[in-house]
Amino acid sequence: MTDNLFQDIKQRDNPKTYRYFNGVSWKTSSSGRCIPIHFPHDGSIIGYVQAVTREEIDDVIQRAARAQQEWRHVSLKEKMTMIKRAAQILRDYESFFTEMLIVEIGKSRYEAKSEVLRTADSIEFCTYEVINLYGYAIKSDVFPGYKEDIVSHVERVPHGVILAIGPFNYPLNLVASKVAPALLMGNAVVVKPPTQGSISGLMLTQAFVKAGIPKNIISCITGEGREIGDYLTTHPGISMIAFTGSSSVGQAMAQRVGMKPLLCECGGNNPVVVLPDADMSLTAKEIVRGGFAYAGQRCTGIKYVLAMKETRDRLLPLVLEYMNTMIHVGDPRDDATSLVGPVISEKAAEEIERVIQDAVSQGATIVSGGSRRGAYIDPTILTNVSNDMRVVKEETFGPIVSFIDIASIDEAIEIIASSAYGLQASVFSLHESAARRIADRLPVGTVQINGSPQRGPDHFPFMGIKASGLGVQGIRYSLEAMSRLKSVVVNPTE
Ligand code: G3H
Repeated sequence: MTDNLFQDIKQRDNPKTYRYFNGVSWKTSSSGRCIPIHFPHDGSIIGYVQAVTREEIDDVIQRAARAQQEWRHVSLKEKMTMIKRAAQILRDYESFFTEMLIVEIGKSRYEAKSEVLRTADSIEFCTYEVINLYGYAIKSDVFPGYKEDIVSHVERVPHGVILAIGPFNYPLNLVASKVAPALLMGNAVVVKPPTQGSISGLMLTQAFVKAGIPKNIISCITGEGREIGDYLTTHPGISMIAFTGSSSVGQAMAQRVGMKPLLCECGGNNPVVVLPDADMSLTAKEIVRGGFAYAGQRCTGIKYVLAMKETRDRLLPLVLEYMNTMIHVGDPRDDATSLVGPVISEKAAEEIERVIQDAVSQGATIVSGGSRRGAYIDPTILTNVSNDMRVVKEETFGPIVSFIDIASIDEAIEIIASSAYGLQASVFSLHESAARRIADRLPVGTVQINGSPQRGPDHFPFMGIKASGLGVQGIRYSLEAMSRLKSVVVNPTE
């Protein structure tokens, strides 16, 4: 397969420069400004994307709103055919998407390829699930004082124009997981990819365009969030926002946008509670996988482990052993690289390094790693950590797992409950009933028993509480979120 499919995106006179998609064609912004996109490994520039203007945003949204009026009436069967085609394009062009993720966001080849294939599967799965979303009718007579002669016909209708804002760590999957359900439910979509991840977002948009999505129903605009973010999110033409990103950006956006439906997937600092009877080998493996995959840059990444000292003493050597066998730090282009490549930028790595140093200055001990080379942070294990240290209190998007000693399970639950975040937590124990009792008491969106936190499989509900988010994602839940209920009540005339 050649990369011809993506040629339109590039400017002919400067093939390193990518254009934005205004819903009809690929355009160079009238701003005359471009944003460089850097390879996280060494900071070299891999391309430039357009910094679009407010006028261009207005134009895209206005035309999307008009086109959506027709799109909502296109049959579901036709929509499903187009969406399935988009999934197939991702599969056909898997190696192009994989290579792009490797150089644009520094994901290892294995993880990049899984993101592409997982995205294709999720897109297609939406088409299976959407046919199970039915309308229904409710009769009035169940309510005191009413006869059965009033009927509410309830159906799902689109919001209108949905703004889909994706994060840098999954620029395909967490954009497609918004776009596919939004389109199937009859909305138009304006994609705002993350800056680092923009090129992947443009390529994904092209997959939907080539799958036959009609003009103006999908567009992709690029620019710095801090320049166009507020303008876009508060734009009166945007009916609903589906966002994945940091808690600080999500919270600021929620305050600004007023009464617009929001689906927000934000940060997490996911804890693991290890009971003395846990399978220590399984637990250690899951901690390494959950803490270090994609260099710890996942909102579901494991950030701290809560165990009593005796349990920690049995677990930690195994964690260090698995780190040696499972992690291979390296250039993401290299097939041997496993779990830990560079973080997204050297600036981000410098901040992670500061967080480690802060923890050490407050009494934490570095058991492994702790140092930085450019954008690379050595996989780090800290002990003697307390929950008031930034490394645990804030979401640290890097390859660090901290151990906090606890005196009792109640203390572990208190620590988790006091966190600003509430995405996921894991409990490791061979006694399911004991683990479930703890799970019941944990104020988070999801508790994993004997497994590390993760969003997938993608049809499971995925949601955070507190600073971790608003609303529920997951294929069926996203389809519901991308639509609203509408009721038509028929009253008797006689
Ligand atoms: O970064 C946030 C993602 O939703 C995490 O997804 O658990 O599949 O890595 P994941």
